[in-house]
Amino acid sequence: MKVIYTEKSQVLASRIAEKLECKLGSVKFSIFPDGEQYVRIEDLDDEMVLVASTVDDNTALQALLLMDACEGLNVTLVLPYMGYARQDQKFSDGESISARALARALSEGAQRVITVNIHDKSVLNYFRCSAVNLSVASEIGAYIKTQDVENPLILSPDEGARDFARSVSEHFDWDYDYLDKIRLSGSEVTMDPKHLDAKGRECYIVDDIIATGGSMALAASMLMKQGAKSVRAAGVHGVFALGGYIKLIQGGFADVATSDTIERASSKFSASGIIADAVRK
Ligand code: R5P
Repeated sequence: MKVIYTEKSQVLASRIAEKLECKLGSVKFSIFPDGEQYVRIEDLDDEMVLVASTVDDNTALQALLLMDACEGLNVTLVLPYMGYARQDQKFSDGESISARALARALSEGAQRVITVNIHDKSVLNYFRCSAVNLSVASEIGAYIKTQDVENPLILSPDEGARDFARSVSEHFDWDYDYLDKIRLSGSEVTMDPKHLDAKGRECYIVDDIIATGGSMALAASMLMKQGAKSVRAAGVHGVFALGGYIKLIQGGFADVATSDTIERASSKFSASGIIADAVRK
C-alpha cells in the first residue's frame, strides 16, 4: 500500500502513512508554461490511498489528476476536508449542486471514500462508491482536556451542531449546549446558550468549519457580554477565509484550535488516527 497526497495534504498524509506503517509515495507536481498542472506518481502500487483536502480549486484539480493517474488500481480516496461540501442542494433553478459535481468527478475510479466531519452527510450519497464519514469529536475532547480550563462549557454556535458539541463533551461528562440565535431587529441579533448559563464559565465553542470566523466571533462577543470567564474555539476544518484567523485572535479568543485536515498554525489535534483506522478496516 502507498499513501499519496496533494501538495497541501502532505503533513496529514505522512502522519497517516506512519500510523499505517506503510510507505509514502513519491509524487511530482509541476506547472506547464501555460499554467496547466502536471502530476506524476513515481511509485505506483496495487493499493493506493490518496489524501486530498480540496481546500481550493487547484488542489481539487490536483486530486482529480492523481485519481486518473491511479486508474485501474485499488484506490481509497480520503477527503479530510471537502471543499464545496456546503453547496449540497439547489436553492434556485439553474444552480449547480456543486458538492455533487465534485463528489462524482473525484470518486470516479475510487473503491471507497473517507471524509471527516463533512458538513452534511447527505453528500456521501453523491460519491460513485461507498463512502464513510468520520468524526474528530473525541480528538477535540482529548485536546481540550490537555488545556488549563476548569469544567469547560462546550457550545455549538447553532442547533445544527448540537450533536457535535455533545459528542465532544460526552467522554468527559462536561456540560454542553447550543447557542440560540434570536434576531432582535434588522441589524441586531443575540445568541444565548439555550439551556445553560455562561456566566463565570470557561467556554469552548466547537464547530465543523471555521470559514470566515464570523459565527465564532459573534458567539464569543455574546458570551463575553453574558459574563463568560473565557472563550475558546475548536473547529474541525480551519478554512479562515477573509482573514478569519486574525479576526478570532483579535476578537479575544483565549485559544483557537483546529485539526490537521487543513494544515494551519492552529492545527493542534490530528485526524490521522481515525483515518488510519478506517483505511485499515
Ligand atoms: C454552518 O452551518 C457551518 O457549520 C459553520 O457554522 C459555518 O460554515 C461557519 O461559517 P463562518 O465561519 O463563515 O461563520
